[in-house]
Amino acid sequence: MKRVPGLTGNEHPIGVFDSGVGGLSVLREIRAVLPHENLLYVADSGHLPYGNKPAEYIEQRALTVGRFLLSRGAKAIVVACNTATAAAITVMRAEFRVPVIGMEPGLKPAVALSKSLVVGVLATEGTLKSAKFRDLVGRTTEKVEVIAQACPGWVEQVELGDLGSPATRDLVRRYTEPALERGADTLVLGCTHYPFLAGLIADVAGPDVHIVETGSAVARHLRRRLEADGLLTRRMAPGVELFWSSGPAEVTGRSLAVLWPGVHRVQPLPAGFAAGD
Ligand code: DGL
Repeated sequence: MKRVPGLTGNEHPIGVFDSGVGGLSVLREIRAVLPHENLLYVADSGHLPYGNKPAEYIEQRALTVGRFLLSRGAKAIVVACNTATAAAITVMRAEFRVPVIGMEPGLKPAVALSKSLVVGVLATEGTLKSAKFRDLVGRTTEKVEVIAQACPGWVEQVELGDLGSPATRDLVRRYTEPALERGADTLVLGCTHYPFLAGLIADVAGPDVHIVETGSAVARHLRRRLEADGLLTRRMAPGVELFWSSGPAEVTGRSLAVLWPGVHRVQPLPAGFAAGD
């Protein structure tokens, strides 16, 4: 396979993408630990959801969006999506020379926190069916019961910026309760959209249930990796964020207004990168 050379240099931006706006839950953690870096964000909303699509389709999208980020000079790529990481990180690392950082449901920290030894993993169907997830569960040596729970509809509510309507509350209750009823005292948010629903999940689960998300761990991992590769920016000015969407830019813009308050422009992803495979 021909490798795409990536332009690397300290002052190049970091590229981040997700199937939609869920990856903003990771972007905010990256912004918190890397305040001076310039960040590029692609919401692949024209192809959302990834969670119920074949792995080959997601692989093609991840490679296409990755090539776009490299064309904009990304010095590293963060796959801010558990589903895309499970489907595509191996091929991305084979094709791209820049560091490619991915997501993984935080099963290990959850097992460490759980007293009931029952852990619920809330994620997309694609993540839960993947070989990577099977491996992750297989690597868990502790005697713990892992309840894998898909949560259809959650991603769509977050995309709408609807984080609190009765419809969203009902959907959250529907897919949070089964793991609780089976004794889970720890819930892993294995999809980057779900941290935006963490308040509602906590309302259902109550104060004694741990909720584990991995955005901040991934952001710290990214910082360590850039540091090790000598790629951290030397600028002291605050970094900026640029946003693209492969879906209708005004729709992504409306969700951004809720999930990433501030003034920004969402640019349409250029046609060659936005179209399907
Ligand atoms: N945000 C993505 C994840 O972390 C998936 C959303 C989707 O189904 O598109 O898995």
